[in-house]
Amino acid sequence: MSESVSVHPVPPRLQNGSEVPYIGPNIEAYKKAHAESIGPNADKWWGKMARETLHWDIPFHTVKSGGFEHGDVSWFPDGYVNASYNCVDRWAHRTPDKTAIIYEGDEPGQHLEISYSQLLREVSRVANVLKSWGVQPGDTVSIYLPMTWQSVAAFLACARIGAVHAVVFAGFSSESLRDRVNDCKSRVVITSDEGRRGGKTVNIKKIVDAALQDCPGVEHVLVLQRTGGEVSWTAGRDKWWHEETAKVSNFCPHALLPAEHPLFILYTSGSTGKPKGIVHTTGGYLLNAALTLKYVFDVHENDRFGCMADMGWITGHTYIVYGPLANGIATTVFESTPVYPTPARFWDVIDTHKLTHFYTAPTAVRLLRRHGEHWVEKADLSTLRVIGSVGEPINPEAWHWLNDHVGRKQAAIVDTFFQTETGTIVVAPFPGAIECKPGAATVPFLGMEAALLDPVTGKELEGNDVEGVLAFKGSWPSIARTVWQDHNRWLDAYLKPYPGYYFTGDGAHRDQDGYIWIKGRVDDVINVSGHRLSTSEIESALILHDGVAEAAVIGANDEITGQSVHAFVTLKPDFEHNGEAGLVKELAVQVRATIGPFATPKKIYLVPDLPKTRSGKIMRRIMRKVVAGEADQLGDLSTLADPSIVEVIKDKVAAAH
Ligand code: WT7
Repeated sequence: MSESVSVHPVPPRLQNGSEVPYIGPNIEAYKKAHAESIGPNADKWWGKMARETLHWDIPFHTVKSGGFEHGDVSWFPDGYVNASYNCVDRWAHRTPDKTAIIYEGDEPGQHLEISYSQLLREVSRVANVLKSWGVQPGDTVSIYLPMTWQSVAAFLACARIGAVHAVVFAGFSSESLRDRVNDCKSRVVITSDEGRRGGKTVNIKKIVDAALQDCPGVEHVLVLQRTGGEVSWTAGRDKWWHEETAKVSNFCPHALLPAEHPLFILYTSGSTGKPKGIVHTTGGYLLNAALTLKYVFDVHENDRFGCMADMGWITGHTYIVYGPLANGIATTVFESTPVYPTPARFWDVIDTHKLTHFYTAPTAVRLLRRHGEHWVEKADLSTLRVIGSVGEPINPEAWHWLNDHVGRKQAAIVDTFFQTETGTIVVAPFPGAIECKPGAATVPFLGMEAALLDPVTGKELEGNDVEGVLAFKGSWPSIARTVWQDHNRWLDAYLKPYPGYYFTGDGAHRDQDGYIWIKGRVDDVINVSGHRLSTSEIESALILHDGVAEAAVIGANDEITGQSVHAFVTLKPDFEHNGEAGLVKELAVQVRATIGPFATPKKIYLVPDLPKTRSGKIMRRIMRKVVAGEADQLGDLSTLADPSIVEVIKDKVAAAH
């Protein structure tokens, strides 16, 4: 593979642009900085970074305590720090008129800029409303909001008073929302009347209303008026954002919070069981959000950052909200889609707002690449210095397309690897220091020690040109601390598989130059358009349908979405239906309703039986190979209970393509 890999030097805008990169001009600079940040130097380095980067209400004396061995990681445990103060007040005091948020609405031309002082007032008002409802530090607040600038204020209002926000991506179904609100026991939900996306109206409040029918603990719902559309109203429970915030003071003092106070919960799927509420803490998470944004994107004071993810995912939490604002720069809240009203939308946004940074996912790049270069050509993209990719490995074609047509060989491209659990980027190139290879996530961030482990023995693979599972030694400030009210689940999933290490669940290769290439999940997790889906969760959703006896879900490669969901379903023997096509549709609806539209299977195959071993274990490998068109490489079938089922599956799959 290495022969065909191209190597790209540090691009012009990072070599002789207006800003001198923090880390550069070559890999030696990175190596030196990294060596100074790990091993025996780690605590000193992190302590220095924490003091320089954040405002501490009460300074810490201890940098770190505990570790992965006992699952008791804590950072700056005796220090006090407030995320809202650090993201808003600091800059509102120094530069009140500086833009904090660039809001780009769904319709082109519908945009505004919110200054730091305006943001401070809105955050304060919402915080005061929450306080008036009795929200205390440590209480959870569920947030189900579209991509409006006020969503940022909702996050920071919680952080201001020590409430733990639990944001649910507004593409999740009412059932998913219900389960999350109940799991974290929120008394308060923040939402909107409707949303707008791609020219369409999204019935946000309707979804919330359906979810809350089975959430007896919810007492208050704060409703942002986004469209002014008609919505149903539960008197006593529902309150308008604009009415409530008009009643309270424009300033709310920030709460004194220990660094280890939980900042937020974010649910994510794993290979087993229900979604896990991943818990991040205030000081550690915020520090790494600030540092990774600064160094991986080489962000400077007057930069205008544009992360196109949704705020409901970790990328949005860290690189729309906390990272940019903790650095006091402008961040973009983009409400629309890459193709609305045309596939030139992203490029128009960069051009209009003079963005210096653009952060998106490979799936969007592949989609836009398919629409053709002519959509990009007209835009002035000369302000861009760094372009980021996240969510899945970026294929070289997509990388080159970004480099040729968006960066125009002047800007850097950073392929950033991280997870909901890691909180912030953990592997990425440094744009002013490193020669990039398209598709390589490249090197560990400062203060972090990546390790490749032999999946069977758990032994660390030393040196270069090795392949194994990706893990991390030691800990770093933004690693999640636990699963909400289920610490054993945290230990079992991440810390026990390889004692002393955090296990990512991804496979990786370290090439001859020491560059890390992420190979994808080694568990039953599929990645569709950068959304993490659990095969077992989709199977459980399918089984909820009356007719379904068994379901097996696999991931298949997909040109646009990276992977796609394929489901094999067997029916109960006495179940009667009016034709396969109708039933397949019903099953797809079942998944949409249970999880959300983004989890809908691309293909559903009705089969008489699933391939199983004699002991009854489903052999997903066989279905994976058949769907991948590799039916000639099925491998050892001797443990299969009924070999004839393989032919049936082949026919079904062939007929569906
Ligand atoms: C999983 C985490 C963190 C961003 C959004 C997804 C995959 C993420 C990359 C990348 C290869 C990547 C991994 C990881 N992933 N970024 N640059 N290269 N794979 O967050 O839902 O927590 O999913 O996304 O498989 O484990 P998430």
